Amino acid sequence: MHIVHIAVEMAPIAKVGGLGDVVTSLSRAVQDLNHNVDIIFPKYDCLNFSHVKDLHYQRSYSWGGTEIKVWLGKVEGLSVYFLEPQNGFFCTGCVYGSRNDAERFGFFCHAALEFLHQGGFHPDIIHCHDWSSAPVAWLFKDHYMHYSLGKNRVVFTIHNLEFGAHFIAKAMAYADKATTVSHTYSREVAGNPAVAPHLHKFHGILNGIDLDIWDPYNDKFIPICYTSENVVEGKRAAKEALQQRLGLKKADVPLVGIITRLTHQKGIHLIKHAIWHTLERNGQVVLLGSAPDPRIQNDFVNLANQLHSSHGDRARLCLTYDEPLSHLIYAGADFILVPSIFEPCGLTQLTAMRYGSIPVVRKTGGLYDTVFDVDHDKDRADSQGLEPNGFNFDGADSGGVDYALNRAISAWYDGREWFYSLCKRVMEQDWSWNRPALDYMELYHAATKN
Ligand code: ADP
Ligand code: GLC
Repeated sequence: MHIVHIAVEMAPIAKVGGLGDVVTSLSRAVQDLNHNVDIIFPKYDCLNFSHVKDLHYQRSYSWGGTEIKVWLGKVEGLSVYFLEPQNGFFCTGCVYGSRNDAERFGFFCHAALEFLHQGGFHPDIIHCHDWSSAPVAWLFKDHYMHYSLGKNRVVFTIHNLEFGAHFIAKAMAYADKATTVSHTYSREVAGNPAVAPHLHKFHGILNGIDLDIWDPYNDKFIPICYTSENVVEGKRAAKEALQQRLGLKKADVPLVGIITRLTHQKGIHLIKHAIWHTLERNGQVVLLGSAPDPRIQNDFVNLANQLHSSHGDRARLCLTYDEPLSHLIYAGADFILVPSIFEPCGLTQLTAMRYGSIPVVRKTGGLYDTVFDVDHDKDRADSQGLEPNGFNFDGADSGGVDYALNRAISAWYDGREWFYSLCKRVMEQDWSWNRPALDYMELYHAATKN
């Protein structure tokens, strides 16, 4: 089967959040199943070109009143067609954040379909994502369907309904199949007017993580390679390296890591509360996060300064985007906290488990589907063929966070042997694309039979 993704984020060349991870890792997983996958992507001036191999100019075409140069390169083993319109739409120094984002991405979607058309490509599936490539769904049906010999099908994935709901509603109407990134989120949004009329073609398929990219046994950003067999040694070395790098006290205390975009979705008030609460319980906290909203960023800068003077050797807020540091935190933390208000899937809890860190999460969306509380969710975990793997809570308030965090930190203090057996257990759970990639293939096949 030939699948073409049209997307505006892709790890590691232009990643803003989990959407970028998923475009790359889902494509790789499907390619590994011997299908033919291509990606069409904007040639941003801010691309991380060091991760693009064999980039070469292919040809040009005219569309939308401008010349568009096409470049072909390899990213993580995937063929990527880069579109470079000469109107400067992707020379803004960033992925998002221009005044005319909707216009830029709408243009890109149409240019991508035109590229397929002019190049004589007839993929079985054209897969688009979120509001930014949602226009693909209706532009394809309105302008290109009659050229496709009735062959191509459009699949649309909602990664986050919060952004561009009106685009999403239209894409939902036009797409042949639609997905979102966990079962629970698919239920949570089932009543949304953008989704409700289309439930017959809407499916929840959980995201996975790319085990080659997130692999504590082969990770140049951590001091010792480890598997579940030497998890204690590996995590101890990573914790020490993390403490040293960030100037924290080298102490054997529970370390809570938080790696996140700092937005309302991620439970900012809960994050702040958790930082203070962890310190009260004599733990250490490392937060790696950046806020698209300058007011939130400022607020955290103030908090970072305050913590620097009051708890400089026990808390560090790194208010930036730093992929290598994220690896060291996933490995060096005992717990990764994800107190989201809502979370369509969430990748940080999955990556945490891959590195033997215990997730502490709010029960919502994909967090609910992947984290099973050691005290309360034995039966629910059993029903998925899993053992409990973390701590969770319901209420989006300080009481909720305290409930889960207290149990997590107490478990750490009370029985290190039990704690490390939990670390080993979570490392051995499979949160890769193995299963979800098959679910996508089933969906793609079903779409072609429509
Ligand atoms: P979302 O897409 O809503 O931001 P996800 O959990 O799906 O949430 O994905 C977030 C991804 O971005 C993860 O791969 C996480 O490791 C990464 N990430 C988030 N913030 C940072 C940061 N400040 N530095 C490095 N990586 C980050
Ligand atoms: C979105 C969601 C996140 C999800 C990611 C990848 O950004 O907020 O929960 O994991 O997309 O699908």
